[in-house]
Amino acid sequence: MEIGPGLAAGGDQNVDVDDQLAEMISMRDEGKIGGIGLSAVATDTVRHALPAGIACVQNPYNLLDRRFEDLLNLCTDNGTAWVPFFPLGSAFEAFPNVTDNLVVQQVAADAGITPSQAGLAWLLSHAENTFLIPGTGSIGHLEENTAVGSIQLSSSALEALDAVGADTVSLPVEPPVWPGEAG
Ligand SMILES: NC(=O)c1ccc[n+]([C@@H]2O[C@H](COP(=O)([O-])OP(=O)(O)OC[C@H]3O[C@@H](n4cnc5c(N)ncnc54)[C@H](OP(=O)(O)O)[C@@H]3O)[C@@H](O)[C@H]2O)c1
Repeated sequence: MEIGPGLAAGGDQNVDVDDQLAEMISMRDEGKIGGIGLSAVATDTVRHALPAGIACVQNPYNLLDRRFEDLLNLCTDNGTAWVPFFPLGSAFEAFPNVTDNLVVQQVAADAGITPSQAGLAWLLSHAENTFLIPGTGSIGHLEENTAVGSIQLSSSALEALDAVGADTVSLPVEPPVWPGEAG
């Protein structure tokens, strides 16, 4: 892990990225894995790794926090799937929840959908290489979330949602938290 939030690896858990890639390329060649994915990585690392053939990248990203917009663009340009984690802002109190945002709530009300559907539909329409993995312990929410694939927001709704987190695109990315530093 190179970026936060989350715990950083320590000691012998730290393995050079080229060594990790070499191992995964071998496993792919042997048919043990279908493709190589990277997660919680810096944009430069993905750029460096692209020649290995990166199938997908999973980093934190949602309508309220778009600090990895540059990485999303890199993935889009290279045909790499973009799998944003914390697509709704997570269940952690430390992070703002997409569904609590007033613009999201208004757009959702106007469109006759739920705030979570507005946040997820924005992600899908923002980049065509996006795959959604919202987490939920509720069947009702699961049904709401899977229905998002058939929701098409109007251009004015998308414009309003685009504006919500636009200023986060240029914010610095957090370093991971080292064990013992959390909290
Ligand atoms: N690669 C990594 O390092 C990494 C790190 C973190 C997470 N992940 C993965 O990313 C995925 C998503 O992360 P996450 O679950 O932490 O965050 P998330 O999907 O952004 O948010 C989950 C929260 O949203 C709520 N929620 C989900 N659907 C909802 C809906 N339709 N209406 C209202 N609330 C809704 C959930 O509550 P309810 O349970 O009440 O629905 C839960 O509190 C997970 O599969 C996780 O494993 C990967």
